[in-house]
Amino acid sequence: MAITLDRVARDFGAIRALDEISLTIADGTFVTVLGASGCGKSTLLNLIAGLDMPTSGRLSIDGVAITKPGPDRVVVFQQPGLYPWLSLRENVAFGQRLRGTIDWPRIDEVIGIVGLGGFEAHRPYELSGGMQQRAALARALVMNPKVLLMDEPFAALDAQTRHRMQDFLLELWGRIGTTVVFITHDIDEALMLGDRLIVMQARPGRIAIDRPIPLARPRHWDMVLDPGFVALKRAVMGILAA
Ligand SMILES: Nc1ncnc2c1ncn2[C@@H]1O[C@H](COP(=O)(O)OP(=O)(O)OP(=O)(O)O)[C@@H](O)[C@H]1O
Ligand SMILES: [Mg+2]
Repeated sequence: MAITLDRVARDFGAIRALDEISLTIADGTFVTVLGASGCGKSTLLNLIAGLDMPTSGRLSIDGVAITKPGPDRVVVFQQPGLYPWLSLRENVAFGQRLRGTIDWPRIDEVIGIVGLGGFEAHRPYELSGGMQQRAALARALVMNPKVLLMDEPFAALDAQTRHRMQDFLLELWGRIGTTVVFITHDIDEALMLGDRLIVMQARPGRIAIDRPIPLARPRHWDMVLDPGFVALKRAVMGILAA
């Protein structure tokens, strides 16, 4: 699904978190959003999710105004936010249960895909942080979202788990072709995952850089060591420092 923002602003009291941002994200694109803490990244994501409303301007998805959350858009937050009293399997099934029908074979398949097979009956406190984050990703994926909104989903993971999750996400995106908006603090992660890089600046929150990421697919986390990748990263860092 295509996402359009037309002069979207969001004020929190005297703070202009977003300053008249206009943006079109084409269907099936993987967009990465990079920027310093407080520059408005989560604000942007929450508006697209329909969890918050702009102070002015319009957001739409496939031409329809965004006024509330919808099953077409699923958010993965930095904190997994699992329900402590539910098993892993019930946590993953939660969104489908709310929707009214549960596809258990699909739930179990996705639990297997994120590498949590055998842990279905475990409660969140019995899982590591990385496992909980994978469960949160599974919970989002079983909704078959047309738009996947990810707010620093891998920031709390150790490097090895993060790399595995990055490769997993890329592989999955290649298969299901959903539109992804992925927020990160990490330049490597932004360049390695995305088709398009958006860099935001703070106070007021604006788009400083918006350009395609000219790297071939398929991609893997270890391409951050390739000379072509390093050259691109150096160029982006140069722009960021300017
Ligand atoms: N609910 C809120 N009430 C008041 N101010 C808010 C609220 N949400 C965000 N802000 C302010 O808006 C600005 C942007 O916040 P936002 O959370 O979007 O930043 P961010 O880019 O996601 O930062 P981080 O990388 O630390 O997550 C900040 O100055 C923040 O204080
Ligand atoms: Mg944030």
